[in-house]
Amino acid sequence: MSKKLIRNIGCLQTPTGSYSHKGSKQGINEKYTDAAIVIEDGLIREITANGNIPGSEADYDEVIDAEGNLVTPGLFDGHTHLIFGGYRQHEIAMKLAGADYLDILRAGGGILDTVRKTREATFEQLYDKAYAFLDEMLDMGITGCEAKSGYGLDTENELKMLEVIRALGEKHPMDVVPTFLGPHAIPPEYEGRPDDFIDLCCEEMLPKVRSQGLAEYCDIFCETAVFDAPQSRKYLEKAAEMGFGLKIHADEIDAIGGSQLAGQLGAASAEHLIAIEEDGMDAMAAGGTTAMLLPATSFYLDKTFAPAKRMIEKGIPVAIASDFNPGSCPSLNLQFAINLGCLRYRMTPEEVLTAVTINPACACGRGHLLGTLEPGKQADLVIWNAPDFEMVCYRFGSNLAKHVMKKGEMIK
Ligand code: NIG
Ligand code: FE
Repeated sequence: MSKKLIRNIGCLQTPTGSYSHKGSKQGINEKYTDAAIVIEDGLIREITANGNIPGSEADYDEVIDAEGNLVTPGLFDGHTHLIFGGYRQHEIAMKLAGADYLDILRAGGGILDTVRKTREATFEQLYDKAYAFLDEMLDMGITGCEAKSGYGLDTENELKMLEVIRALGEKHPMDVVPTFLGPHAIPPEYEGRPDDFIDLCCEEMLPKVRSQGLAEYCDIFCETAVFDAPQSRKYLEKAAEMGFGLKIHADEIDAIGGSQLAGQLGAASAEHLIAIEEDGMDAMAAGGTTAMLLPATSFYLDKTFAPAKRMIEKGIPVAIASDFNPGSCPSLNLQFAINLGCLRYRMTPEEVLTAVTINPACACGRGHLLGTLEPGKQADLVIWNAPDFEMVCYRFGSNLAKHVMKKGEMIK
């Protein structure tokens, strides 16, 4: 049995519990001064405050000095498109010339461009590229993430992407939660026939993903010029029947019923929600659906910001994620999303910490293991180059994660 002690933690800040935090609970964090954490076999055993250390330092295999810094749970990025071929830097020129996100997609570019490059890529190429992204994420204090398929758009390539995600989850220290996003766009072979593609997703892809155990959640892009609300309902109802958890890209650009559907189906999360309206929020609050908000996408697409504070008022659990992908958010920097959470959503630092730890962990089925620092949870944590979480919210542009511990091992 290995026993470690982290001592001299100036401020230990964490939400508590293994459930999603909503309403006033979103902004409640525990804060311990001059704290210490005892770690046994990769799990948190005990947390103490006010300079108390259980036993003496000689009782531990390793003693780590946090040097008076802030410690929080490892961050959880609850929405990423981690696996993709190529990049789309050429879209910058198109955007500068006035094209917007859906114009580029309608012209056969955007997601469909990445689909071509992802279909051409081998398993190994996709694996190596995403492995390096996961290294970069860990270096920034992210210890768990969700990863979506969705750039294959045919059975073979969707399964290839999910197999890459599975292999990464097995080999990389990061906890990776797999989501099947077959209906992410209408593939060229199904142009003008979205209903037929939904049938392919329901009748061929979902059963294979299920029987091979390749995903825990299913997602769909419910948007103008992509899939409408009835098509999304058909697919998500089928996925629910087969035992998958539900996610939906909803109200990113236009509010066409995605958030209402999420609430009605009791989806784990609805994601984006830039254009959400009051009735969509009411449905999500009633359905217990987490709002997975993606502020760096609003920034990159030059859109407005989702009404995060209104959602908190309405009792919707709010999570903040990166949306890392090659088109609408080519950044995996969740610390930047934290900055935007405060500055653009106007959320308090405490609300933001909840939004990047326990709430996304719960929306991805990991709330029992991750997302808070409490006895029995995995010892996934960050020692920050900061005295308090306000500093992390404030110092945008630098990586403030000084040390990162994953399952009790210091990996940075
Ligand atoms: O979440 N909106 C749909 N999917 C991604 C973008 C994917 C892409 O542009 O490649 C998103 O923003
Ligand atoms: Fe997305």
